[in-house]
Amino acid sequence: HQTHVRDALSRPLKDLRISLTDRCNFRCKYCMPKEIFGKDYAFLSDDETLTIDEIVRVTTILSELGVHKVRLTGGEPILRRDLPDIIRAVSDIRGIDDIAVTTNGSMLTQKRAAALKEAGLRRITVSLDALDDAIFKAMNDVGFPVGRVLAAIDTALEAGLAPVKVNMVVRRGMNESQILPMAERFRDSGVILRFIEYMDVGNSNGWQMRDVVRATDIYRMIDERYPLIPVEPKTPGEVAERFAYADGAGQIGIIHSVTNPFCRGCSRLRLTAAGELFTCLFGTHGTPIRHLLRNGTTDDELRALFTGLWRDRRDRYSEERSSETVRQPRVEMSRIGG
Ligand code: GTP
Ligand code: 5AD
Ligand code: SF4
Ligand code: SF4
Repeated sequence: HQTHVRDALSRPLKDLRISLTDRCNFRCKYCMPKEIFGKDYAFLSDDETLTIDEIVRVTTILSELGVHKVRLTGGEPILRRDLPDIIRAVSDIRGIDDIAVTTNGSMLTQKRAAALKEAGLRRITVSLDALDDAIFKAMNDVGFPVGRVLAAIDTALEAGLAPVKVNMVVRRGMNESQILPMAERFRDSGVILRFIEYMDVGNSNGWQMRDVVRATDIYRMIDERYPLIPVEPKTPGEVAERFAYADGAGQIGIIHSVTNPFCRGCSRLRLTAAGELFTCLFGTHGTPIRHLLRNGTTDDELRALFTGLWRDRRDRYSEERSSETVRQPRVEMSRIGG
């Protein structure tokens, strides 16, 4: 089988983003605010979470429909003890030529980094929102220190998980002061730092347009100090706009999904830890498939379902965003995996 599908807006299916768990040891205010994700929050039980075999089965069928790139996210994916096994199994699937992990880095020890590398992981993305300890601790809201994430980034570099990317979500009033310090810290380090416009994912972070620092402003701040030159995307439909420091100190990325949406090239499908497929990060509801994976539904039946789901896809949330849509119910980031 090799039949690549296109959606209703003629976009191919190329990327699969798999959330491996809805749990995280951080409580970033823009993602899992403590007031909502507290002691009483009903996280998925083990039984409700997709197993490695189920993940591999879904990914295999989707690879036949065009998926060649897989990103493993969470919550925090390193909380899954079988992460190396998942990486090994997914990278063994024919047609999957790129596999990456997005982590908060808090548990990325040398031993774990080596195990991920050994399992077939080539590259990794670590989230870090500030270099100032007080600001970072306030943002992750569990008092986690910057130094340990910086150590994890070094560990990733040493393990050869290249390129190492660092994601910084910029939220006005919290960390815009950190844009230049972060740029300075990661110049010439081999790390690709990406600045992300704060998005209105989920309904629990109280997003407001005024909290967004526009990509053009981020660009200007850096370019004034360290002149930038644009770099062509490596693949069409990339979320980050790439820039290189004119003095040769490496590359950065700016992800402008709010002020300059990129839905037109969106080839991403998302699978949650609970086994739901979402055709958009801002989906209201997904298509549950876990029960189908457990009730004898055949691969052919699943293939037909996935094909139909993608063919009917018309999502372009970020291009249609308005004061109306911002109030609609949406899936939480920790569940869909970003
Ligand atoms: P690469 O494969 O290295 O290019 O990674 P990536 O940039 O696709 O993935 P990453 O997980 O690092 O995502 C960076 C940011 O872009 C996160 O905040 C994501 O939530 C956001 N993002 C990724 N895909 C989409 C998308 O399809 N739509 C929107 N609106 N945001 C996205
Ligand atoms: N807006 C933008 N990015 C977000 N992330 C989590 N929540 C948001 C949000 N509201 C980021 C994480 C991680 C990536 C997968 O998504 O920091 O780097
Ligand atoms: Fe955890 Fe990442 Fe969400 Fe922060 S942004 S709470 S590290 S999943
Ligand atoms: Fe894709 Fe939805 Fe993001 Fe647009 S908003 S780029 S359709 S996931």
